[in-house]
Amino acid sequence: MPEESTVADWVKVASLDQCLPGNILQVEAGEFTIVLANVAGEVYALEDRCSHQDYPLSDGDLEGSQLECLYHGAKFDICTGRATQLPAIKPVRSFAVEVREQNIFVQI
Ligand code: FES
Repeated sequence: MPEESTVADWVKVASLDQCLPGNILQVEAGEFTIVLANVAGEVYALEDRCSHQDYPLSDGDLEGSQLECLYHGAKFDICTGRATQLPAIKPVRSFAVEVREQNIFVQI
């Protein structure tokens, strides 16, 4: 019987100094393109695809814990992926993040 992993993998995606407080960073992890955001020293990860029309959220701006999509102004709570401003209604997928020895890991 083939082995199949059901446990999600932690993937190293960047070092902490690549995503300093107030900044966002696009990274790749497995099949996902992810946008990291550092909010006052805490790092969060969302899929880098706006739930409105699939454009990359990493082109947008981080204001506090809100990530604003460049294309039509939707906003998302970076901590949860919840849509907080139209035209987006649906949430964006969020990923668990850990920082270990100055490296950022995302669970996919
Ligand atoms: S693609 Fe993000 S608001 Fe339209």
